[in-house]
Amino acid sequence: MSENVRLGIVGLGNMGRAHRNNILAGKVTGIDLTAVCDIPKGLPDPREGEAQFSDVGEMIASGEIDAIHVCTPHPSHREIGVKALEAGLHVLMEKPLAVHKADCQALIDAYDQTGRKKVFAAMFNQRTDPHYTTLKRLIDSGEIGKVRRVHWSVTDWFRTEYYYALGGWRATWKGEGGGVLLNQCPHNLDLFQWLFGMPEQVTGFCNFGRYHQIEVEDDATLYFKYADGTHATFITSTGEAPGVNRLEVIAERGVITVDDGLIRWERNETETTEFSDTALSGFSKPDTWQVEIPIAGRGGQHIEILQNFSDAIREGAELISPAVEGIHSVELANAALLSAWDGKTVDLPMDADRYAAILTEKGDTSTFKKKEIQAAATASADDFAKSNKAGGA
Ligand SMILES: NC(=O)c1ccc[n+]([C@@H]2O[C@H](COP(=O)([O-])OP(=O)(O)OC[C@H]3O[C@@H](n4cnc5c(N)ncnc54)[C@H](O)[C@@H]3O)[C@@H](O)[C@H]2O)c1
Repeated sequence: MSENVRLGIVGLGNMGRAHRNNILAGKVTGIDLTAVCDIPKGLPDPREGEAQFSDVGEMIASGEIDAIHVCTPHPSHREIGVKALEAGLHVLMEKPLAVHKADCQALIDAYDQTGRKKVFAAMFNQRTDPHYTTLKRLIDSGEIGKVRRVHWSVTDWFRTEYYYALGGWRATWKGEGGGVLLNQCPHNLDLFQWLFGMPEQVTGFCNFGRYHQIEVEDDATLYFKYADGTHATFITSTGEAPGVNRLEVIAERGVITVDDGLIRWERNETETTEFSDTALSGFSKPDTWQVEIPIAGRGGQHIEILQNFSDAIREGAELISPAVEGIHSVELANAALLSAWDGKTVDLPMDADRYAAILTEKGDTSTFKKKEIQAAATASADDFAKSNKAGGA
């Protein structure tokens, strides 16, 4: 067993503080939190053994850390991530990897320049959820046969006006680069591509500020077309309560529905295509069995990803969520927004530079004013804990 990793966290807001608390509570092994960085008033009370910085460049160059966890708002992910990679640190990025595909590519290019010798991971904590790891096993093993259609309604990301009013950078083109697709759904879009791969076309239908006084999307329906003709839909919103999180996969061996605590599989005894090709009646269907797979809990989430980062650095463990895969969820979100703005279907791979230019212009020319609400004394800690059932964003 090698020495502990000396970790620095940059960005001590909701997420950075939650990770810090997990480490200080001893929930992750092999990591010593030796430095933190935020603006001066964002820093926690000083703690022995934990150097404090208000300039991330200084923390990176300090010699106090071997690894960095980037927990700042996403527009800064590219700059901080590239700097840390160039300095030879191991890097764990918060989701999304960056605001747009061109920035993701810049991060991956910087990683390539280093010869990919260090660990470069992303906090896609929902990849640890047994609902999705079980489904992935059923798909990858071929047990459910070829996937024919996918439908995911994930509308349990409800957020209040207060949430948007308090987070200054949130839900603006300049500060965040998008709304529900960039902030809450990177997890689901990452799972989508992890489970089903990348489509070849994306069409996005977005409502901008439908439920909240914001300029970005808080309601979206995405349509994906895959190279083999598979169609998929993805629906999300931060304006519906209580909302649902229901993933339906139609495959050759029947219908699989992922609900809270249970995977239901109506299993065809014969694959649909084989049955259709060989049946000697016009209206019969394959016989089915009802299979119920109970799912306990939501997995190790943030703690498991951080532990995996530590294990990958110290022992060469395989990464659960390599950062280089983070470009895919960003491309899906970017393509959906571009499609909604242009009123056209977007072919993948998309034109990343054109998207970046349009987004920058939207940010630079925006005159939109978000609603202003006075912060309540009990501010945001309780909001964050209630983020969503499936593991936070
Ligand atoms: N994995 C998850 O489940 C999850 C959940 C929540 C947030 N996140 C991600 O974490 C990131 C931060 O989100 P948050 O909700 O914690 O935001 P936040 O606004 O609560 O905190 C951001 C912090 O970063 C600091 N900061 C900004 N720029 C900085 C810089 N250049 N140097 C040092 N500090 C800087 C701010 O002062 C603030 O304290 C986002 O990318 C978000 O998507 C991930």
